[in-house]
Amino acid sequence: MDLSNRTVLVVGGTSGIGRELARRFAAAGSQVAVAGRSREALSDLAAEGFGTFSIDVTDSASVASARDAVLARYPELDTVVTMQGVMLLEDLRDPAHFEAARVTIDTNLVGSIRVIDAFTPHLIRRGAGTIITVTSGIAFLPFPPMPTYAASKAAVHAYSEALRAQLDGTGVGVVELVPPAVATAGQEKVNPHALPLGDFATEVMQLLSADPTPREIVVKAALLHRWAERDGTYGDLVAQRSEALAMLPGRAG
Ligand SMILES: NC(=O)c1ccc[n+]([C@@H]2O[C@H](COP(=O)([O-])OP(=O)(O)OC[C@H]3O[C@@H](n4cnc5c(N)ncnc54)[C@H](OP(=O)(O)O)[C@@H]3O)[C@@H](O)[C@H]2O)c1
Repeated sequence: MDLSNRTVLVVGGTSGIGRELARRFAAAGSQVAVAGRSREALSDLAAEGFGTFSIDVTDSASVASARDAVLARYPELDTVVTMQGVMLLEDLRDPAHFEAARVTIDTNLVGSIRVIDAFTPHLIRRGAGTIITVTSGIAFLPFPPMPTYAASKAAVHAYSEALRAQLDGTGVGVVELVPPAVATAGQEKVNPHALPLGDFATEVMQLLSADPTPREIVVKAALLHRWAERDGTYGDLVAQRSEALAMLPGRAG
């Protein structure tokens, strides 16, 4: 993918990985719009020169109106990134976890489907474009303190595979970004192994720039998770990662 001439929308571009990749696409020469809920972050990004759009992916009307506003301003839009996501801890021994599960599925999975549905007809009409979905190493190797998160990302992986097959022949490609732990969203405080955001973004842009673009963007630090099942390390790694259940508030001591 030539990163210097795209017209990109990053949904969930108001912080973290999305904001950094928005900046990288812009630095490479692409036109970039970002969308999210935070008015303050959107206003800061507008001051940086980005097109900014308010969107709540859990609300179909909000997605439709954001789509209309984006396409009115960027009729040449060719790349849509569904970066939005929440990463919530859940204690499955406490039924109160359900609300976190609901929000996780609505934001990470159904939110991605809402955004993809909103833009797919435009991309098919253009006859060229790319949908970049975002999963996680956790889609392939569960992290037991975040069960619905893992389920949502495994679902986005499966959905991306089917979407790619269904769009075959339309000129619209599907690329799945599979981040490992990256030092954003508070991870930097709890996970010493989280990859620095700048290093992660540099590797992602290098991988994206390959021609043809790979179906999955898996940085080196995510290979362990992506291929654990194939490599026979899955059982041991899940057991090791289950030790983190001690971080759940109800399990202390
Ligand atoms: N950081 C990691 O270690 C890691 C690892 C693997 C995968 N990922 C994935 O990478 C993506 C970005 O994560 P991050 O670490 O950069 O986290 P982040 O800084 O918390 O970013 C999350 C983004 O999602 C947006 N968002 C959340 N709910 C939304 C909603 N209902 N409607 C619209 N936008 C919404 C947020 O914007 P507003 O609050 O402005 O709406 C924000 O821009 C997520 O999909 C995450 O699951 C992250």
